[in-house]
Amino acid sequence: EHGLDCPSYPWPHKGILSSYDHASIRRGHQVFQQVCASCHSMSLVTYRDLVGVAYTEEEAKALAAEIEVEDGPNDEGEMFSRPGKLSDRFPKPYANEQAARFANGGAYPPDLSLITKARHNGQNYVFSLLTGYRDPPAGVSIREGLHYNPYFPGGAIAMPKMLNDGAVEYEDGIPATESQMGKDVVTFLSWAAEPEMEERKLMGFKWIFIFSLALLQAGFYRRWKWAPVK
Ligand code: HEM
Repeated sequence: EHGLDCPSYPWPHKGILSSYDHASIRRGHQVFQQVCASCHSMSLVTYRDLVGVAYTEEEAKALAAEIEVEDGPNDEGEMFSRPGKLSDRFPKPYANEQAARFANGGAYPPDLSLITKARHNGQNYVFSLLTGYRDPPAGVSIREGLHYNPYFPGGAIAMPKMLNDGAVEYEDGIPATESQMGKDVVTFLSWAAEPEMEERKLMGFKWIFIFSLALLQAGFYRRWKWAPVK
């Protein structure tokens, strides 16, 4: 069973030569960090990945330094904790899956590193899901601890509505409406799942350009070579 079909949104990075909206990635990281990270891990992303994408190196170092990382053993064989570094991955909100399920009424908040790839029509789905909470239709009752959301397969999801207007205060002053935060966090998640997208599109463009030159040259060469015969 799957949920309600979601609309196709005009993501600014969708075009064959379009890059990400980096200001949006930055706002989306802010949403992730302040809203989602209390339940969801993003275990494939390091602070260094953000450098030059959403933050300067200094800013990313400062973000990393806010977390505490269990490290060791040191020369004495002891474990110790230290402030985070650029090479550290985003922290996990729970020690393990059991702890995560225990805190979420049995449901498991999945790791979000690849979520826009892992779900069918990922970006449109995640945006629709986050902004799709509403009252259940007449006659539909939702079990205690679940929330009605027509985009979620089955229609009842353990994750409460998280994006309410003003849930974060953006550093760049853009009003943090529900849909703005949804767009930004999905842009951030899309980048995380496919950080090489811009490089891939640029390479595609270069190859097409080079090959058209080569084709042109081959065409002229053919004409020139065969000219005396005709
Ligand atoms: C599931 C995104 C915040 C708890 C999910 C799913 C996504 C998602 C994409 C997967 C849905 C699916 O399986 O198709 C987000 C984003 C958040 C956020 C982008 C921040 C804006 C939170 C928070 C909590 C939470 C703060 C805890 C209070 C859960 C749980 C599930 C879930 C328990 C599993 C739902 C189920 O299987 O019924 N979330 N989430 N999420 N999320 Fe979140």
